[in-house]
Amino acid sequence: MSLQATNGAGEVELGQDFTRHVIESMGPNTSPRLRQVMTSLIQHVHDFAREVQLTMDEWMLGVQLINWAGQMSTDRRNEGQLLCDVIGLESLVDNITYRAAAKSGKPVTASAILGPFWRADAPTRPNGSTITFDTPDDAQVTFMHGRVVCAETGKPIPNAVVDIWQASTNGLYEQQDPNQKEHNLRGKFVTDENGEYSLYCLRPTPYPVPNDGPAGKLLKLLDRHEWRPAHIHLIVQADGFKPVTTQIFDEKSKYLEDDSVFAVKSGLTVQFQERKGDPNASLELEYNISLAPAA
Ligand code: BEZ
Ligand code: FE
Repeated sequence: MSLQATNGAGEVELGQDFTRHVIESMGPNTSPRLRQVMTSLIQHVHDFAREVQLTMDEWMLGVQLINWAGQMSTDRRNEGQLLCDVIGLESLVDNITYRAAAKSGKPVTASAILGPFWRADAPTRPNGSTITFDTPDDAQVTFMHGRVVCAETGKPIPNAVVDIWQASTNGLYEQQDPNQKEHNLRGKFVTDENGEYSLYCLRPTPYPVPNDGPAGKLLKLLDRHEWRPAHIHLIVQADGFKPVTTQIFDEKSKYLEDDSVFAVKSGLTVQFQERKGDPNASLELEYNISLAPAA
């Protein structure tokens, strides 16, 4: 069949022939992977529209939501990503990727979603220095440290880069908040010859994802809250190893069970301990990272 056919009663048929026709309109120069992805996407989107009997008004509302996300996005804000996050898509893709990486059976540090607030240009800072400037009065400063090791051998990895970022206690990342210094609460730390890194940061606190755009609107319509459990983001990479993007969650935090972006995984919760004798920090957090060899 070519165009949409009508049956004997003059009704337009909404069946698989039409879907197949759309899929088969791809030309021979489409790459095999794109053909595979688009075939499946078109099939599922058509089946979805048939299943819920999507109306023109509902379809147009969806189009407007996507357009709104695009119009809101800048190099400081990725609303399209946030929309994906609140329907669990980034987390699902992350799980698919992590399962492939963890196939070796070795104790590789679990991954978690990147989220929209990472910045590529975070400064490299010396081990033992701080990422918290103008520390808020309600913050608990934490000495965070750990070792990056090879998941196969357990040996420390020198020169690994530990890229860390977190929100302040007002729930905002520095690029969302004109009152925070540029690059506040973010930095890169290079492990020493023993594979160790260390820094001062804040005990993280729960925060709501931005609710002034389509993702917030969708959450409201779905009668869901916007909160994320307290977490710190990390990307760890080293020559010869697969990099890991992850988040660690305070095991005492609210919202571990109902993270608005579905990113919490067992194995990523951590315990903050009391720290004595350090005038710069009341808490301590040890977090070790295990990377899989690249090949
Ligand atoms: C975050 O953790 O920074 C984040 C992740 C997904 C959506 C919004 C924020
Ligand atoms: Fe975050």
